[in-house]
Amino acid sequence: MKTELCDRLGIDVPIFAFSHCRDVVVAVSKAGGMGVLGAGTYTPEKLREELDWIDEHIGDKPYGIDIVLPMKIPGLPDIEDVDELTQTLLAKVPDEYFEYAESLLEAHGVPAWDANDPIKLMGWTEATTRPLFEEALNRDKASLIVNALGTPPKDLVDRAHERGKLVGALTGKPKHVESHKVAGVDIIIANGAEGGGHVGEIGSIVLWPQLVDAAAPLPVLAAGGIGNGRQILAALASGAQGVWTGSMWLTVEEAQAEPAQKQSLLDASSEDTVVTRSWTGKRARVLNNDWNKSWENQSELKPLGLPLQGLVTADAWRRTEKYAGVADTQKVALNIAGQVIGQFNEVQTVRQVFERLFEEYLEASSHINDLNKDLF
Ligand SMILES: Cc1cc2nc3c(=O)[nH]c(=O)nc-3n(C[C@H](O)[C@H](O)[C@H](O)COP(=O)(O)O)c2cc1C
Repeated sequence: MKTELCDRLGIDVPIFAFSHCRDVVVAVSKAGGMGVLGAGTYTPEKLREELDWIDEHIGDKPYGIDIVLPMKIPGLPDIEDVDELTQTLLAKVPDEYFEYAESLLEAHGVPAWDANDPIKLMGWTEATTRPLFEEALNRDKASLIVNALGTPPKDLVDRAHERGKLVGALTGKPKHVESHKVAGVDIIIANGAEGGGHVGEIGSIVLWPQLVDAAAPLPVLAAGGIGNGRQILAALASGAQGVWTGSMWLTVEEAQAEPAQKQSLLDASSEDTVVTRSWTGKRARVLNNDWNKSWENQSELKPLGLPLQGLVTADAWRRTEKYAGVADTQKVALNIAGQVIGQFNEVQTVRQVFERLFEEYLEASSHINDLNKDLF
């Protein structure tokens, strides 16, 4: 399973794990893969705290940081101060949007937010993301910085390279590869439509080989729908140099989440996810529930674009996470997950997941070898 990219990054196996949870990041890197902290919605202070903890616990292993380096958002005011930008953007959102979101939460018994911290703009803009990037640059063990939506600005890529870091970027379309290459991106992450979070429309098995060809000589990581060793083998057979996974780590023991949220994920089948713009304004795959259905089924309020819809839903996001087990919260909760979530029905540790993946991968490889025996 070892590929050239493993040597470049100093890891044993090319299994990359996106997670918002620092414990998962550390456990994956310690197991020989690479944990990547999803920091897109963090404040710089929170990111600093999490990275301090990771640096302290990860030993000499490398890790990655995923931040949403902004692509151009049409009409976004050029304001650097995050509070001022938040207020300016909030003023653009019609009241009906907040009222509708609140009515859904109230109807499902989701308690009000009990702290006095107003909604802040999450990631996804230059103003919120540049400080996160600066924090990532300063971390010696963070050998990989990844961008989620669009091509990262070239000046940031250059500065990451000066610090000896590799830069990855997700894409769901072959035509985006060229601009990634021009910006100097080192690793293309081919994110198929069945994955959790923001996705395009092309399914993994079609996307991966197309992106491997388009990206050459750059290495590709295959993403979207990988949860067992057979799927890893399929990704490597497509020409990918590794796998980039997200949903698989939501249900592991190390993943911190309210029990009710984890249970929703454990209970879900592969048919229970849907792509919706109702949370961020961009197509994102999540567990289907009353929240998504209500937004899709009413005709008055179409989801706003990014980042405005994120402001509309930020309160719902934090409240449904915190009060996951209260009343009917799960029916309106944000549970980002890909179709592969249907494969995870019990809680395992990261270490157990790695053992399972190796076993399945070897069994599948030996099956293919058997099939090939008679060819020669
Ligand atoms: C809970 C969750 C949150 C995600 N948030 C982000 C994000 O902030 N940035 C990003 O690059 N990808 C994000 N993703 C997508 C993952 O990086 C990855 O591409 C995807 O999970 C792969 O598909 P899979 O879910 O089938 O493994 C998220 C995925 C999940 C499951």
